[in-house]
Amino acid sequence: MSKTLSKIKVALVGIGNCASTLLQGLHYYSDCKREEECIGLRNLLLGGFHPRDIQIVAAFDVDSRKVGKDLSEAIFAQPNNTLKIVDMLQTNVTVCKGPVLDGVGEYARNIVQLSNLPEVNVAETLKETGAEIVVNLLPSGAIKASHWYAEQALIAGCAFVNATPVFIASDETWGRRFEEAELPLVGDDLIDQVGATTLHKTLLKLLSKRGVRITETYQLDVGGGTESLETLKRTRDVKRIVKTKSVEAALPYKANVVAGSTDYVDFLRNRRDSYFWIKGLYFCKVPMQIDLRLSTVDAPNAGSVLLDVIRAVEVALNRKLKGAILPISAYAFKHPSQLMLLETAEKAFVDFIRESK
Ligand SMILES: NC(=O)c1ccc[n+]([C@@H]2O[C@H](COP(=O)([O-])OP(=O)(O)OC[C@H]3O[C@@H](n4cnc5c(N)ncnc54)[C@H](O)[C@@H]3O)[C@@H](O)[C@H]2O)c1
Repeated sequence: MSKTLSKIKVALVGIGNCASTLLQGLHYYSDCKREEECIGLRNLLLGGFHPRDIQIVAAFDVDSRKVGKDLSEAIFAQPNNTLKIVDMLQTNVTVCKGPVLDGVGEYARNIVQLSNLPEVNVAETLKETGAEIVVNLLPSGAIKASHWYAEQALIAGCAFVNATPVFIASDETWGRRFEEAELPLVGDDLIDQVGATTLHKTLLKLLSKRGVRITETYQLDVGGGTESLETLKRTRDVKRIVKTKSVEAALPYKANVVAGSTDYVDFLRNRRDSYFWIKGLYFCKVPMQIDLRLSTVDAPNAGSVLLDVIRAVEVALNRKLKGAILPISAYAFKHPSQLMLLETAEKAFVDFIRESK
């Protein structure tokens, strides 16, 4: 049983594939009572909160097939192409139109249909709906739009979760601004539950712990969601920097490392295939190599981590913490303000949640 009756009020920015799975996940796990029942969920209770304690109170997008619709309908509208897992009940949350800014890149313009409904005052809507936490799920190339929504969170007095690879929580200036506003900030670039980066880092660590000297390794992805097109056209370089830095941090020495998304294959829909190549030397410099493919569906990979992040940010709000919150960012994001080893980050997160009991 969760210890509180008050809901964690969340606003979602960008009603794409991630938002779809997050909302379906909230419904899917709402009646779960015991850990062993909730397959796929890392924490049934976190900081005393159950997933059903999370309530989506506001939603923003720019696509005409989503804006003006109930959230339960919008999450299944094109071009979203992730799995339909549950039948949704009406949420009574209507998707509002926000400004487009750089949210829709040159290539995504063929896929996104811009709504001509009027824009709402986003900060006012956040205040009116009582949102406490804004979760940024904009496309990864939406730098200006992500900054703009972080600004709206500051105006409305909301905590900000940046799931995109735009540098906000890892940026000192933004960190200071949230600190001054006495609001928590976490990000950047959410780590997947069964993510290629985590798997890659774990394999490298395992091998290097056993005395293998890694000489070369790469990790390349193909996917068919709009986000994969985005990654290919607008954010390939930044993604490559974020992922490569994160993978390099798993090794105690320098090796040739390349990790970054590569291509868009439309018929894969929201599926993602990640290819790994690892080359190293073991006893007497005898060579070894690993060739591996991981197949996942992209959006569900964000679900469990987002549920943990939202509940952890509520913990931070209740403890009146402000600025970039490192234990949450290092645990759940690829580019926190300070990179940590996986197990150090996990421990810091567990300790952070435990301190709140
Ligand atoms: N496993 C994962 O899916 C995963 C993991 C890590 C990070 N992320 C990040 O999460 C973000 C969302 O991913 P996704 O797959 O849901 O993307 P998506 O392309 O499916 O959804 C993006 C949504 O944002 C909307 N949008 C575009 N411009 C907008 C604007 N100005 N205002 C409001 N809405 C706007 C689009 O219409 C679309 O509905 C991406 O930045 C991605 O890098 C996802």
